[in-house]
Amino acid sequence: MNIVIIGVALTFEIKATGRAVPQRRVSNEELAQKIDTSDEWIWSHTGIKARHIADAETASSDLGVKAAWNALEMAVERGAYAEKTVEELAFTLDMIIVATTTPDFYGCPSTACLIQNKLGAKNAGAMDISAACSGFIYGLETAAGLLSAGKGRKRCLVIGCEILSRFIDWNDRGTCVLFGDGAGAVLLEKTDAPREGAERRGLLRTLLRADGAGSKNLIIKKGGSRNAYRAGDVFEFAPLIEMNGHAVYNFAVHAVTEIIKDLLEAERLTVDELRWIVPHQANARIVQAATKRLGFPREKFFLNIDEYANTSAASIPIALDELNREGHLKKGDIILCVGFGAGLTYGGNLIVW
Ligand code: ACO
Repeated sequence: MNIVIIGVALTFEIKATGRAVPQRRVSNEELAQKIDTSDEWIWSHTGIKARHIADAETASSDLGVKAAWNALEMAVERGAYAEKTVEELAFTLDMIIVATTTPDFYGCPSTACLIQNKLGAKNAGAMDISAACSGFIYGLETAAGLLSAGKGRKRCLVIGCEILSRFIDWNDRGTCVLFGDGAGAVLLEKTDAPREGAERRGLLRTLLRADGAGSKNLIIKKGGSRNAYRAGDVFEFAPLIEMNGHAVYNFAVHAVTEIIKDLLEAERLTVDELRWIVPHQANARIVQAATKRLGFPREKFFLNIDEYANTSAASIPIALDELNREGHLKKGDIILCVGFGAGLTYGGNLIVW
């Protein structure tokens, strides 16, 4: 369906998508050989069948670069940039935004700068976004703002990349079964100033919300200025994600429901006008509970958590890339992405594909 926007700038269109997941696939059955769990428990409580885990040499930026390259290749292969090679396209990027909870380094340098260098994107600014699993939602809106505000800025990569396997307690069966590693990327191109009645593609509306009162429910306590490493410290445990699963679950169901309702209401859209709802892939039961509350058909929601588990900021761009490559997205389709995560943060993007 093509929607006609009158006098409203949608700022950018998504030219291409990409993803990268580690080759190593760890099934529930394999996990059950190492910890006290079972395929039956994980599947019935989360909808997860497997996750992909990076080798010891791979950091978040490595997966981020691969996903970005994959998106640039798609743009070149599909003829979006006549005569350009992937390297030349990278050289024309104006901005790289990276959403990650698991940066290569804490504090500095940003993972975005490492990716900028590896891509050879010498003309691009680069920065990280810290909004955990909502990072891609925040990143897309940040990109829209930068593209519309910056004179001469027209091409931007938004990447979500994570190596969560290094920050989970593999002895805590309540959390370790939930997470995986991966990266996804989208290439954005600024659109021209809108003409009256013209068909537009891009970001229709974004909602960004947070509930900092819930910050303790999903937290890595050690390593920041609150609880810095000091010379001579001896650690019994590495700094790992600590999660209050029940609190996060309740928050997530509420967040997904609220964002979907508010976005549809704000744009006066019905669920029938949406091609897809792409939720952050944290737990299929969260999506099922939200679906029930909303009274929407289950088929509207795209889920691939069975294969990747929760890849935090990477989960939505990985899902978009799967949909795109498998031919499930057409020009003009309306997609609602909804995210939630540590912070606590939540939000959603309404995108016209
Ligand atoms: N295998 C087998 N048994 C398990 C496992 C496991 N992997 N994990 C927990 N159990 C057991 C518990 O010990 C408990 O046993 P008990 O009754 O004998 O005490 C039983 O299963 C039930 O445990 P609950 O914690 O009540 O299980 P619940 O149904 O609530 O599911 C879960 C737990 C999956 C963690 C759920 O709370 C959840 O999904 N929360 C949201 C988590 C989330 O999405 N986090 C990330 C969001 S934001 C981001 O992406 C960073």
